[in-house]
Amino acid sequence: MSIVLEHVDYVYDAETPWQTTALRDVSLSIADGEFVGIVGPTGSGKSTLVQHLNGILKPTRGRVRVDDIEVGADRGRMKELRQKVGLVFQYPEHQLFEETVWEDIAFGPRNIGLDEEEVEHRVHWACRAVGLDEDILDRSPFELSGGQMRRAAIAGVLAMKCSVLVLDEPTAGLDPRGRANMLAQMRALHESGMTLIMVSHGIDDIAQLADRVIVMNEGRVGMQGRTREIFRRYEELQALSLQVPRTAQIMRRLRDAGIPVPVDVLTVGEAADALEEILKGRNCSAEEHNHRSVHSR
Ligand SMILES: Nc1ncnc2c1ncn2[C@@H]1O[C@H](COP(=O)(O)OP(=O)(O)O)[C@@H](O)[C@H]1O
Ligand SMILES: [Mg+2]
Repeated sequence: MSIVLEHVDYVYDAETPWQTTALRDVSLSIADGEFVGIVGPTGSGKSTLVQHLNGILKPTRGRVRVDDIEVGADRGRMKELRQKVGLVFQYPEHQLFEETVWEDIAFGPRNIGLDEEEVEHRVHWACRAVGLDEDILDRSPFELSGGQMRRAAIAGVLAMKCSVLVLDEPTAGLDPRGRANMLAQMRALHESGMTLIMVSHGIDDIAQLADRVIVMNEGRVGMQGRTREIFRRYEELQALSLQVPRTAQIMRRLRDAGIPVPVDVLTVGEAADALEEILKGRNCSAEEHNHRSVHSR
């Protein structure tokens, strides 16, 4: 599975007074099994970009290919495309519409003609994958908490057993615990071999999970590269009003205060290790110092 975009432009409401060019000459590729984070200011084209990946939007110019399917051109293969690439919209709880959670999660698999035994199997599997308590399967999706609704909507997409999962702002509006759970599940899905593409405002979430980052700016790919490389480019990110991960910000302050810490750490764990190294070094030199002063007396 690979995804390739070549010189993609996308124009909303073309040839009307509301015409908006949302993507401009976007070229990128995503390989099988990657975890790619997409960041960028509001309105930079992130949602427009990801909606091309399962054919909801078709490029105005340029090409989008998912394996050997050309999005927009191979009209007969859209169903196949949707089975490969699952897209969870921003605020996916708006995608829920059936009477029960069960019916909602089962909708996609039924729609592609799977037998009831397989549908049942998939509903249970998808629930487990997103950590949804099966007791709620008979409830109306509209009785659930915000976090549960979001899980139910993601389960509905997962039940299609796609090999690529695209999530547009999956943690937006969740409390810290809901957010941590969601991220742990994303990580587990990725570790099970799925390709993950996550749009997020949460730079810290991206720093923890993504192998690679694509930065969108005014409809273009502003920067792309390995996660650590991208978050090292502090000034360029700041120019786009984007932050570096919080741990990197703290390390930068320590560095400014004269403490020789690395500034390209991505997680709290890495920051702790780096600080421990430095403290060990200081203890050593302090002992050495004491030792010397004893002997010089
Ligand atoms: N359905 C739409 N109709 C018209 N313009 C849109 C629509 N969706 C997005 N846009 C415009 O396209 C541009 C990119 O938007 P979007 O892809 O939603 O960015 P992001 O997800 O990065 O916030 C913005 O200027 C936005 O106003
Ligand atoms: Mg968006």
